[in-house]
Amino acid sequence: MTADTTSGPAARLVVLASGRGSNLQALIDACAAGALAAKVVGVWSHTASALALERARRAGIPATFIAPPSKRADAETRAEWERELAERIAHAEPDLIVLAGWMRILGPELIARFTDAAGRTRIVNLHPALPGELPGMDAIVEAFAEAEDGKRRESGVMVHVVVPEVDAGPVLAVERVPIDVAAGLDAFEAAMHAAEHRLLVAAVRDYLARLGTPA
Ligand code: GRF
Repeated sequence: MTADTTSGPAARLVVLASGRGSNLQALIDACAAGALAAKVVGVWSHTASALALERARRAGIPATFIAPPSKRADAETRAEWERELAERIAHAEPDLIVLAGWMRILGPELIARFTDAAGRTRIVNLHPALPGELPGMDAIVEAFAEAEDGKRRESGVMVHVVVPEVDAGPVLAVERVPIDVAAGLDAFEAAMHAAEHRLLVAAVRDYLARLGTPA
């Protein structure tokens, strides 16, 4: 990893993660290694048992479970939950919010709250598919199934700025990943995750440089 030579205060990252947190870990490691001039100042999850929370705590980062509304909750209850989440995130004064394996849709109100005066949304999302392809939660498995059916030979990962539409928005970085059907789904998943870890760190570094910090 190349050391970051940019000067100035470390950018403040808030990470939202629903599960395993290997991408959160990639960010934590890059910050610790000096490869990213940033620090993760808070992690939130809507999953109490998320390994991401544990990884954050191990690194001394405040990590909070925020109980989500039930699936049958009405729109107002969901909006209130999101306002509460936004409030807490705002307290952490992030320069950038990173959705790293975050499995809930964020609404326009929250997105607008973290869009700066210049109109730049300070929320990025990692998605394991190429731009315009396979939105949703099962992109890796779906890509592999399409490859088995002879419909594709590659997929990839992207980091994009968050907009109200799911897994869409201005693309910041893309890495293509070939699919070797004979090697199996596990091998493809491992290659996709390795690409994610590289790409997320690079995309966050580049976007922070473009934004200029602090927020
Ligand atoms: C990643 O594949 C991410 O792109 C996604 O869910 C997975 C999360 O991985 N949509 P982790 O929790 O960062 O390990």
